[in-house]
Amino acid sequence: MLLLGIETSCDDTATAVVRDGRTVLADVSTNQDAFHTKFGGIVPEIASRQHLALLSAAVQDALERAGVSLAELDGIAVTAGPGLVGSLVIGVASAKALAYAARKPLYAVNHLHGHIFAAFLEREVEPEYPFLALLVSGGHSQLVHVDSPVEMRIVARTRDDAAGEAFDKTARLLGLPFPGGPAIDRLARAGNPRAVDFPRHRAERDDLDMSFSGVKTSVKYFLESEQGRAAAPADVAASFQAAVVDVLIDRLERAATRAPYRAAVLSGGVAANSALQAAFRAWSERARIPGLIPSLRFCTDNAAMIAAAADRQGAAVLADPLTLAADPNLPFVLPASAVLR
Ligand code: KG4
Ligand code: ZN
Repeated sequence: MLLLGIETSCDDTATAVVRDGRTVLADVSTNQDAFHTKFGGIVPEIASRQHLALLSAAVQDALERAGVSLAELDGIAVTAGPGLVGSLVIGVASAKALAYAARKPLYAVNHLHGHIFAAFLEREVEPEYPFLALLVSGGHSQLVHVDSPVEMRIVARTRDDAAGEAFDKTARLLGLPFPGGPAIDRLARAGNPRAVDFPRHRAERDDLDMSFSGVKTSVKYFLESEQGRAAAPADVAASFQAAVVDVLIDRLERAATRAPYRAAVLSGGVAANSALQAAFRAWSERARIPGLIPSLRFCTDNAAMIAAAADRQGAAVLADPLTLAADPNLPFVLPASAVLR
């Protein structure tokens, strides 16, 4: 299948052309960071206006780079949710118009499923089912049990901040630019992860949920203390990062013993983190479960992952080009009626 992917759930205007959910023929992304940085975070109204200004050209660009015409496509895959409603609406409206005009099937993809299937891009050997996905982004932190492309359930989630959100908020405390994750990652390389012992949220017996607001708050208090004012920012960044990574790997380790997993996938924007990648690889060797991480480019938001998910979910996510509506709170689990399709 040759699919055009469109992703506008947050602040990246992204398009891609992907063959068979694996081979990326074109991957276009216009980063809007320059427009949001001065506000210290994403301004939804600005994001949506930028999508409107950029998306047509981004679609054209992806098709040109891939060397395919609209007529040659087998379908159009778009992120239908979750995300910022004003941003989602631009991508969905555009995908509906293209699908209707070109008479192509339209696939409505869950952004989080996209992150999971990013691990299947440009890979010869695919993860085997069932696999466990550690999905860590700016808006979500969860462990997902994946039985098939259309059957998955969340086995652990964050009770408060997402891991990426904790990175972004802590970066602000350290006076680093937005987005904070990459900035902390870079700064932490020069720091000692054992310099400050920030608290790690503990799992309660059968409950694998996590929490990241506590560690962020303790960084705040630490920085206000005498000791904190004298501390090297790189040490604080490295110690904060180590605390977040420890909690994520602890939950992954516990969850992995609960089913006969044949693979594990690390995905979402925070999967780009170098310390998390190293800890995930070390766990994978210890646990003897193959661990897969998308290439850096496909960890953060992109449209190729949306096409990758649509390719595997097929009929279960088929949508009507006349009626599809963006859903900022799109449920994670596909309805049973869709799974049976
Ligand atoms: O998946 P994503 O691109 O967008 C969402 O769906 O949220 O994730 C963005 C998040 C941001 O919070 C960003 O700070 C974080 O991913 N991030 C990182 C790194 N690169 C991006 N966090 C830690 N280390 C990184 N290298
Ligand atoms: Zn995302």
